[in-house]
Amino acid sequence: MYDSKTVTDIMPPSAIPLGRRQPAGLLSNAEKDRLIERAFLGLYRWYTARSQETRNWNPDKSFDWRKLAQDWPSEITTAVQGFFAVEQYAPDYTSELVNLVRRSHGRSHFQLRWGSEEEKHADAWENAVLFSRQRSPQWIAEYKERLRSQQWTLPFPDAITNLVYTVFQERATQLNYLNLMKIAQGKSDRPHLADVKDPVLAQVAQVIAVDEAAHYNFFLEGVRLYLYYYPQRTLEAIKTVISGFAMPSSHLVPDWDKFAETVYRAGIYGPRDFSRDVMQVVFRQLGIEGRKQLEDGIKRTREVPTFDNDGTQQTAIWNSFDYGLVEGDVKRLHAKIEKFETEVGFSELDPTEFVENPEVPTKRRDD
Ligand SMILES: [Fe+2]
Ligand SMILES: [Fe+2]
Repeated sequence: MYDSKTVTDIMPPSAIPLGRRQPAGLLSNAEKDRLIERAFLGLYRWYTARSQETRNWNPDKSFDWRKLAQDWPSEITTAVQGFFAVEQYAPDYTSELVNLVRRSHGRSHFQLRWGSEEEKHADAWENAVLFSRQRSPQWIAEYKERLRSQQWTLPFPDAITNLVYTVFQERATQLNYLNLMKIAQGKSDRPHLADVKDPVLAQVAQVIAVDEAAHYNFFLEGVRLYLYYYPQRTLEAIKTVISGFAMPSSHLVPDWDKFAETVYRAGIYGPRDFSRDVMQVVFRQLGIEGRKQLEDGIKRTREVPTFDNDGTQQTAIWNSFDYGLVEGDVKRLHAKIEKFETEVGFSELDPTEFVENPEVPTKRRDD
């Protein structure tokens, strides 16, 4: 069992004294944690309602499995089998992450909901492998047993870095599925895949990719909250994650290298896709200019004395990302939560409110 060392990452609201609503001075870590926790809770409630209203599909009944193509080239089978393998670890991902954030209502309940969506992905990809007739039911059963004999564990020891990792992972997964969808729609620019046409497979990939986009957005909003209230720690976590990013359970899935090679050659996913369509996209949405700027920014903050004891941020940190953009996004998130809470009636009893971080400079220093 894992227990986070950084208590502030997962402080439950009940353990945090209710501070003043309008801070006169700086926010204490306890106040920041309460604000992050409340936003997560509001976002989770909004997410669940939306998930049930718009993405309530079923892996068995939402697709016409009998119409799935039965003449896939072996590269498509390898790719889909790999997706099936990665999603097969949904119970491990869920239990590890729930345990990590178990003291947080919004985050732990969200991970259960998230897990229930990932579980559908595992079943849908398995159906795809089965109905393609490219693997026998016996083979699938043995493969699953082999996968499940291994256990996935958290890639990082703390909650913030795992949260950041999940943002990159969800985006990368979404990209994999969207690129497979394009191939199944007959849009591949690779000669060996140009003849593939499988509308059912395209639909499966698309439906799952929409879920992955929703996951990505939830975790992205979470990272924005941390970046706004704890920029230094969050930027460090981003640097850690991008320095050695690998897809989840790539170390557990048999023949991973063959899978990686196949999706690379098929134009589904490779190092360039990660850099251009994952890392750059996440950076843009977090107001980070690029990898070099991130690394330089962190280096600069390490060169000046720290003021950790009185809770203030180092000034240099505010120059290393576009905090104005992040603040705008955090405000927009609160407006979305407020709208939802007004609809339900929570707003009359216990509204989620945005509180400015007074450490954030009102004007960029280099302007
Ligand atoms: Fe998934
Ligand atoms: Fe996901």
